[in-house]
Parts: sequence; C-alpha cells; structure tokens
Amino acid sequence: MKIGIVGLGFVGLSLSSVLASKGYEVIGIDNDIKKSEKISKGKLPFFEPDLEKTLKNGLRKKLTISNNFSLIEVCDIIFVTVGTPQKLNGTIELSIIKKAVKEIGKVIKKSKKNQIIFIKSTVIPGTLLNVILPIIEKESSKKNGRGFELISNPEFLQESRAIQDTKFPHAVVLGGYKNKNMQKAKNFFSKLHSKTPIIITNHQTAEMVKYANNSFLATKISFINQLSNICQNIPGSNIDDIAKIIGLDPRIGGKFLNAGPGYGGSCLPKDMKALIKFASDVGINPALLNAVEKINENQINEIILLITKEIGIISSKHITILGTAFKPNTDDVRESISIELIKKLLNKKAKITIYDPKATENTKNIFGDKIIYSKSLIDALNGSQCAIIMTQWKEFENLNNIIIKKMKKKIIIDCRRILAGSKLNAKYYALGIGK
Ligand code: UDX
Repeated sequence: MKIGIVGLGFVGLSLSSVLASKGYEVIGIDNDIKKSEKISKGKLPFFEPDLEKTLKNGLRKKLTISNNFSLIEVCDIIFVTVGTPQKLNGTIELSIIKKAVKEIGKVIKKSKKNQIIFIKSTVIPGTLLNVILPIIEKESSKKNGRGFELISNPEFLQESRAIQDTKFPHAVVLGGYKNKNMQKAKNFFSKLHSKTPIIITNHQTAEMVKYANNSFLATKISFINQLSNICQNIPGSNIDDIAKIIGLDPRIGGKFLNAGPGYGGSCLPKDMKALIKFASDVGINPALLNAVEKINENQINEIILLITKEIGIISSKHITILGTAFKPNTDDVRESISIELIKKLLNKKAKITIYDPKATENTKNIFGDKIIYSKSLIDALNGSQCAIIMTQWKEFENLNNIIIKKMKKKIIIDCRRILAGSKLNAKYYALGIGK
C-alpha cells in the first residue's frame, strides 16, 4: 500500500509522519521547495508537540518528502491536505486546492491504479462534486468510480495535539458513493483505527460535517463567554465552577467550556465566516451563528474595559501581554485574540512588552520593532504597569509574589483564570470571576 499526501501543513505532515512510522510507504508532497527540503531533513516548519520525533521516525522508515507531484503516480491512496484560507468576503480560497487536484489529475492520467483520492481540506458543501471532481476528470481523462474514486474525509485534529488526534481520531467520516472503492476505503481506515467509528455518508454531508463540528465548538465557547461576562457582574461568582457543574450533565459535556478572550486560530474563525456566508447564499438567515461570532468579537472589548477600569488612560502605559499564541503548546498566532488586543492597545499608544514561550518569532513577523519581546516571564514583568494573561501556557502558573515585585504597578488581568488571585500581592482581576 503506497500513500501520497499532498500539502504538508499540520494535517498533512502529521498524517505523513504517523502513517510512515506505522510502516506504510508514504510520499509527502509540498510545492514549497524550501519547506519540503527542511521537512526531508527532519526539521519542522512550525512547532507541534511530538511531531518532530514522529517525523524523524517516519523518515527512518518509508517516508519520502518531495515537491515533485509525479511521484504519486505509484500511490494507491492520495490524501489532499492543502490549505483553504479565508478570503476577505468570508468565503474560502479554492485556488490552492484547485491547483493541487489539477496536478493530481495529470499524474493519475498515466497511472494504471484505481486511486482513491481523499479530500481532507475543509471545503463548503458541493465543492467536491461541483469543483474538484470536474477538474480531476478533465485532467485525468478518467471518470469517478472508473479509474479513480473521490471521497470526502474531513479532519478534526486540533493543533497542539495533532499526533494524538491523527493516531486516535474520535470518528472517521467518509463521504462518497457506496461502492467497492468505498469498501476499500473503509477497510483501510478500520485497519488503521480499529476502535474508531467509521461513518459513511455522501460527499456533501461529509463536507458539511466539518462546519457543523467547528460551529458547534464555537457556539459552546461563545455561550460560556457570555455567561462569564454575566458572572463578572455577580460578586463572588465563578465561571469555572459553573462550567464544571454543567459539564457533568452528559447532555452538555465538560469540554470546550473554558471561558476566555474568545476563540482564535486558523480554523474556528474561518469556518464560522464561511458557514455564515454559505448559509446566506442558500437563503438561510444564520442568526445563531451571527450571534456566536458577535460575542466572540466583543470579548476583546471586555478585556479592554477591565484594563481601562484599572489603569485609567492607556496611552504611554507599560503593558505586558503574556501569551501571543492562539492557544498553548503551539507557535501559531493566526487569528490570535492576543494579537488583536496588542493591535488595539498600540492604537491607544500603550507600550507593549510580550512574552510567549514559543510564538515570539511569529509575533515579530507581525509587529517588528513596534513592541518589546522578552525572553522570560520575569523580564516581561520588569517595570510593567499591568500584566494580561492571554494564553493558557503552563509556565504562566509560575507567576508568584517574587516575580510580581518586579512590576511597577501590581495589576494582573487573567483572561484564563490560571492564578490563585487571593494569594498574590497584586490587584488581581479575572474574566468570569465576579468582584
Ligand atoms: C479546531 C477544532 O477544535 C478542530 O477539531 C479542527 O480540526 C480545527 O479547528 P484548533 O484550531 O487547533 O482546532 O483549536 P481549538 O483547540 O479548537 O481552539 C480554538 C480556539 O478556541 C482557541 O483560541 C482556544 O483558546 C479557544 N477555546 C477552546 C476556548 O476559548 N475555550 C475552550 O473551552 C476551548
């Protein structure tokens, strides 16, 4: 069994590394030459826990990394894992995936194999049958079901736990026609994930599942954030206790109920926008989805309100931002609320110092010399007039009274409630805890 994987981002690189380390012969393709050269030497283009050692293990076995599409001619299975970034109007950019499947079509034209092509990239319902399939059929001069099989296989992995999620997904969704190739696809996945439910459906339902999943997660987050804002106005109330208790109700479930500055990252905000636009395009008023997004966008104002309440005028104040990554254990700052907060504070002429254990370089690419980058928690707080915890890094739990002594004004705003405020010699405010 030879497997081709096109697009080596979080999804594609994790999948290539995991499959190769399990002994499959894998060819990972990325058209970015520098990136593919780096990966072929066992180096990561981004930080992701456990990925480097899995990649190195894969490379020692049967993993080939290249930018040469023609290598996938010999593959039995091809995964498409290229990005579908967001356009300004909320729709997704299809040019990258169109280019990738065009190349795949050309390559499989020459192949005698009846390849199964799995689309893992997130695309709005209808894209496989209306956009991708015609391109592959045209370029390959073959018909779906005869010569190749196109199947939607949405991906649910989370950054920071990409290897774990690739090895043990909670579900495998296969969207396509129920035929012999679908049976082959099912056999492949049941061998790979013997304990995971495999659900077979049609193309458009599988495409929609990804949006349903991510919009539900976003809804949970906006729900708890709205309650958190209410709690903040009930003296003594604590949003974490409320989340823990309602989470015990099996109808609700305890995950994704951490109140905070709002959801960021490369998926949730993008998928919400695409779904809202798609809903409007098909004549549905997405009232709930709009509210979820609005609550998320407003969360940053709650933080600014807290800052203003405590330090007064923001202009020329030394503010420390702890964490710029959109969540812990990643260096990814895409759509990070922390980055948005820094932009807003800079507009108000604050003097910003940041510290993030992994995301400093990516933050520098955005702000250059407009802000100060610290190498440690202590340095970041030296002379600070207000510290704001934005990302739930474990290391920030070390913030203690000795470190706080370095601050000029001892004000801490904890957007993730990771500190025991009552033990700190500081004015401590937390999102979701009523004062
Ligand atoms: C998400 C989906 O979880 C995953 O299934 C999909 O494949 C890709 O998109 P990811 O972008 O890696 O994964 O991040 P996720 O862990 O979902 O977090 C997204 C954002 O929500 C982060 O900014 C995080 O801080 C925030 N979040 C998450 C909360 O504020 N509270 C929570 O309880 C959970």
